[in-house]
Amino acid sequence: MGRSCFPKCKLARIMGWIQIILGGLVILVSLLSLTRFYSAGFFLHNEDICQHFYNLRDVSDGFDVKSFSDRVGEVIDMLEALQAKLESKVQEMEKNKGTMLDKKFLEDQIVSPLHSANVALRQIRVPKVDEGTNSTVKEDHLINFFIIEEIRKYITPKENRVGKINLYGADKVYNTIGHACVLYKKELEKYMDYDIGSYCDDDWNLAQKLMLNGCDPLPRRRCLTRASKEYQKPHPINESLWRLPDGRNVRWGNYQCRNFECLSSKNPKRGYSKCIGCFQMEKEKLKWVTNNNNNSLVVDFLISDVLAIKQGEVRIGLDYGIGTGTFAARMREQNVTIVSTALNLGAPFNEMIALRGLVPLYVTLNQRLPFFDNTMDLVHTTGFMDGWIDLLLLDFILYDWDRILRPGGLLWIDRFFCNRNDLDDYMYMFLQLRYKKHKWVISPKSKEEVYLSALLEKPPRAI
Ligand SMILES: *[C@@H]1O[C@H](CO)[C@@H](O)[C@H](O)[C@H]1NC(C)=O
Ligand SMILES: *[C@@H]1O[C@H](CO)[C@@H](O)[C@H](O)[C@H]1NC(C)=O
Ligand SMILES: *[C@@H]1O[C@H](CO)[C@@H](O)[C@H](O)[C@H]1NC(C)=O
Ligand SMILES: *[C@@H]1O[C@H](CO)[C@@H](O)[C@H](O)[C@H]1NC(C)=O
Repeated sequence: MGRSCFPKCKLARIMGWIQIILGGLVILVSLLSLTRFYSAGFFLHNEDICQHFYNLRDVSDGFDVKSFSDRVGEVIDMLEALQAKLESKVQEMEKNKGTMLDKKFLEDQIVSPLHSANVALRQIRVPKVDEGTNSTVKEDHLINFFIIEEIRKYITPKENRVGKINLYGADKVYNTIGHACVLYKKELEKYMDYDIGSYCDDDWNLAQKLMLNGCDPLPRRRCLTRASKEYQKPHPINESLWRLPDGRNVRWGNYQCRNFECLSSKNPKRGYSKCIGCFQMEKEKLKWVTNNNNNSLVVDFLISDVLAIKQGEVRIGLDYGIGTGTFAARMREQNVTIVSTALNLGAPFNEMIALRGLVPLYVTLNQRLPFFDNTMDLVHTTGFMDGWIDLLLLDFILYDWDRILRPGGLLWIDRFFCNRNDLDDYMYMFLQLRYKKHKWVISPKSKEEVYLSALLEKPPRAI
């Protein structure tokens, strides 16, 4: 009796065990994802995310990570043994010409799901708990949040060779990504999914979206950026400053326009809404050098007037705004070197500035400026942060500008506009740093809105 039911009974027993194990597996995997989500800050308030994000200790209080890790290891081993047994059983059945139905059922419904579960479990790297050092625990956590191998490789700290340490005692190099990257897991994984050494997708727009949403800095990549199919050498510098560049030098794939001429303010389908008219050189030529044209306002200061305040002292500076580099071009003619921030919001602003022979700096509002303290002679700002900007964010930005300006450096706020009702708040922001006021002009923009322009000088701060 016992012999005659051999394949069926054995199979039923195996199935019973498999069901128990798979059930346990489901619980385990849910537990794992839950702790991963928890530690990534998904159940915390905004303020807490940063504090908790890198610190596994907080999360693992009262939770034995080591034994958890050991149990996962055991389950993986059990699964593997079970899979091997099942596979040999399937082969045996094949040899003995067992019922085709059972074999197919075993293979499709059990062996292959078991295999996937095994693979999935192995992909979860439980934080390695090393009692000796406190450091390894912290970063593994963020690393395990991402599935794409390139992201993991990027954010894994790289140990210096042969134990070299730097001036500050660091023995490894950390690559950083913006903490909001965890909110855009899918997009970031898409961005980082490529073959090393091959061509990247034409996906700068995805990258910019990630950056503007706070995944900034983005990870570096190891693929080759595509260039325009028919790149021409740029115009020589004595011509490039005031000439529209050659459209063939830009990849237009992610824009509505296909050439520079199409970006004219008269074209309603130009695809961008900030700095309208910036691509019309005849209009640009009038900015900051003349105030007797129809577009100029009392809030428009002239470059010559501003430079006269600090004769010969203004040599380097930052233009913080959205534009095509005209401010930097005019300043270059005065032998002043200006770096212009630029984002490609619907038009190739970065390419345009570079093709004019000027330096575009691709940064968002999110980032601390990559300049050292007390270094810049001038910070000029226009068209970027108007009445929409949150006051706290503006405060952080203002203090950052203050940091990079040298003593006696100039802060030129150019055509800042906001709602009349908000003017007091913004004025307070600009005046709180107690700069010397060289110019300060307010003029109406519309019924509800006003313009504010100011030229302020950073005090010495000799303390
Ligand atoms: C681990 O952290 C404790 C305090 O949290 C500190 O005293 C100790 O020096 C750290 N050990 C290492 C190896 O960093
Ligand atoms: C620019 O300079 C080049 C040589 O340096 C010269 O051949 C060319 O005529 C100049 N262009 C203009 C518009 O001055
Ligand atoms: C200003 O506008 C008037 C009419 O709108 C026009 O006739 C005049 O040429 C313009 N002046 C300048 C300097 O553009
Ligand atoms: C800029 O520098 C050049 C070369 O030193 C000089 O010839 C020119 O006059 C300077 N321009 C201004 C506006 O100072």
